[in-house]
Amino acid sequence: MPSRLVVLVSGAGTNLEALLEACEQAGYGAEVVAVGADRDGIEGLERARRRDVPTFVVPLADFATRESWDDALAAAVAAHEPDLVVLAGFMKLVGPAFLARFGGRTLNTHPALSPAFPGMHGPRDALEYGVKVTGATLFVVDAGVDTGAIVAQTVVPVEDDDTTASLHERIKHAERAMLVDTVGRMAREGFRLDGRRVRLGG
Ligand code: GRF
Repeated sequence: MPSRLVVLVSGAGTNLEALLEACEQAGYGAEVVAVGADRDGIEGLERARRRDVPTFVVPLADFATRESWDDALAAAVAAHEPDLVVLAGFMKLVGPAFLARFGGRTLNTHPALSPAFPGMHGPRDALEYGVKVTGATLFVVDAGVDTGAIVAQTVVPVEDDDTTASLHERIKHAERAMLVDTVGRMAREGFRLDGRRVRLGG
């Protein structure tokens, strides 16, 4: 049986698209069973709808507290019985209720080489710092901001004439390949957490 993925998005959804394409390949080992978002009207949701993948939206503004939003998000994800949850450009932090249910099997991708440049502006912060290489990090989500155990990283050069946009585009290209490759391996081979070390294969 392929691993069941629920993917959460907040924007363009190019990482989601890469996963959806990969899941159509025979032998990839995973299927996207639902796509969720914290807002409607985004391209990420349209990408799912075009492929008849079920979608759901849980906006933070609909809830009186962050905790009740987190509960509702966890319940919406749980309804699709995922093996793995993938945050693919999901721009909200999940909370304790979500992690109680899906901790250890929720992945996120960050457009920088952790532990450098956590937070919302990884490409901009890397460019401003003047690093010569940066990249993307796939990690197991914990309660911190981009602090979880690292599953995979990919490196890209910073070019002299880069802008934040050109650098982020180069990162996203590498990030999608890393995401597809690593999620497939996790689905097919399994993985285990050994402290902060993530080991692919049973
Ligand atoms: C990715 O670079 C992700 O790491 C960051 O936002 C971008 C989302 O891109 N948090 P997309 O929505 O998958 O196109």
